[in-house]
Amino acid sequence: MKKTVQEIAERNTSDGINRRDFFGMAWKALGILAGLEASGMIISYFFSGKNKNTNPPKQLLEAGPANAFLPGSVTAFMGGRFYLARQQDGGFIALSLRCTHLGCSVSWEENKKRFICPCHSSAFDIRGEVLNPPAARALDYYPVLIENGVVKVDIGTLKERKTFRKEQLIYA
Ligand code: FES
Repeated sequence: MKKTVQEIAERNTSDGINRRDFFGMAWKALGILAGLEASGMIISYFFSGKNKNTNPPKQLLEAGPANAFLPGSVTAFMGGRFYLARQQDGGFIALSLRCTHLGCSVSWEENKKRFICPCHSSAFDIRGEVLNPPAARALDYYPVLIENGVVKVDIGTLKERKTFRKEQLIYA
């Protein structure tokens, strides 16, 4: 038969332990248990290896074989919200289609070899560099990986930048 806390407290009172002492001991016991649980959580955190990996998991979108993209070409991946731009030297960059001015979607103009924003006419070259303001910085980009000749884009990691730099290009 289960006894209530009050019954136990009353029995203990009759055994010589008063109610205040009983609840004081109960609170101490609960405090010790809570302390042990917190210690266990801290120890498991530091020994699980989770603290070592602060990078979010990759969300890889397979774009296709590297040799399917000609130098100087731009291919739209609207589902991933990027353009895969292959430079004349063969380097790849996955450009966000979001204009860095106020966020409208840019389109690629093949005949002028530039991205144009329909909202306020910002323009960007094939590397995403600003050709025409009001946008003040280059199009953002997503990391590109080339594994076994296949181009993959990590659409979970948007990289912001002020300007284009050569090391942003990835080669097969
Ligand atoms: S949002 Fe693109 S130019 Fe303003």
